[in-house]
Amino acid sequence: MLKDFWYALDFSHAVTRKPRKVTCLGQDFVLYRKRDGSVACLSDLCVHRGGALSMGTLVDDVIACPYHGWQYAPDGACVKIPANPEGRGIPRKARVDAYPVRESYGMIWAFLGDLPEEERPPIPHFPEHDDPSFRPVYFEMEINANYERTFENVVDAAHTPFVHGTAFGNPDKPEVPDFEVRQGKWHAEADILLSPPPAKGRWKRLYKDKPEQVVVTNAWYLPNIVKLHVRLPFGDLLLYDHNVPLSRDRTLVKIVGYRNFLTRKWADGNAVKRIEKIFLQDKPVVESQRPELLPYDLSDELHIRSDSLQVAYRRRRRELIEAGWWIGDHEHPAATVIPSPVRREVP
Ligand code: FES
Ligand code: CO
Repeated sequence: MLKDFWYALDFSHAVTRKPRKVTCLGQDFVLYRKRDGSVACLSDLCVHRGGALSMGTLVDDVIACPYHGWQYAPDGACVKIPANPEGRGIPRKARVDAYPVRESYGMIWAFLGDLPEEERPPIPHFPEHDDPSFRPVYFEMEINANYERTFENVVDAAHTPFVHGTAFGNPDKPEVPDFEVRQGKWHAEADILLSPPPAKGRWKRLYKDKPEQVVVTNAWYLPNIVKLHVRLPFGDLLLYDHNVPLSRDRTLVKIVGYRNFLTRKWADGNAVKRIEKIFLQDKPVVESQRPELLPYDLSDELHIRSDSLQVAYRRRRRELIEAGWWIGDHEHPAATVIPSPVRREVP
C-alpha cells in the first residue's frame, strides 16, 4: 500500500461531532468535527492501554478515551490524565499520531505519511463537484478483495461486455479498439470507444439517434482513485471510486457519482440502486480472482493492448515502491504503523 498520499477516508456528511472510526491501510483512525467545523484525524489507539478513542466522547475539541479518560487535543497531544493528582505532569510520550486533514469534493481526506507539505502529491481535481449542472450521489460497498483488484477493475474496459452484458455492456461487441494513454506524474487516462447495447425502456427516448459507439474516459489517480466518465450524446455520467484498503483482502469502495442529465431522478435514490446493481455484478468476479496462483510474479500477469491503463499503473507503482513509498507488504499490511508528519515534528 502506498504511503505519503492524501486518502479520502470518509464522506463529508458522515463526519460529525460524534467520533467516528474509519480504517485505511490496515490502521484504524478516529475522525471528528471540531467546533469550527474543520475535521480532526487521530490514530484510534490510546497510548495508555490501547483503548479505541472512537468510542470516547468530545470535550470541546478534545477527545476523551472511554477507558481511563485521557484527553487528546486535535494535534494528538495528551492534555489531561484524570487519574493524576493536581500538579503532576503529563509524560512527554503521551500522544497519539495526528494526520493533516482537508475537506473537498464531498470527502474528508487525510495525509497518511510524513512528507512535509511542499513535497506532498496533490489531491486530484474533480471539477464536476463545483459545477451546479451536476448532481452528486454517494454510495459505498465492501468487497472481499485487495484494493488494487477493485481499482484495476474499473479502468478495465474489456470486462464490460462479459460482466455487465445485462446492463451497459454489449456481449456482441467485445472488441476494445486501441486507445492512447495520457499519463502524468500522479494519474493516467484514456478515451475508449465502447459499443453500447441496444437501448431499452426509457433510455430509448433519450437515444433517438443512438450512436454506434460511446466515448468512455477511464482514469486512475494515485494512490487509489479511479474515474469512469461516460460521454453520452445527451450528457455526462461520472463515477469517482475511492478504493480504501481495509486490509490485504478487504476494500471499502466509496463512490461519488455525478450526472448532468435527468438530475432529479439521479438524486432520488434510484441512482444508488443502479450503481449498486453494477457493483454487485463486479463483486463476485473480482472476489474470485486468484492471481497468486498464476505462474507469474504479481506485478507481471499476462497483458494485452486493452490492459494499457493497468500496465501504466503497475509501472508507476513499481517506480514508487523502488523509491520507498510502499508500506507493509502483501502478507502483513496491517502490521505497519503509518508515519505522521506531526510525530516527526515532536523531538
Ligand atoms: Fe485510554 Fe487508558 S486506555 S485512557
Ligand atoms: Co465492472
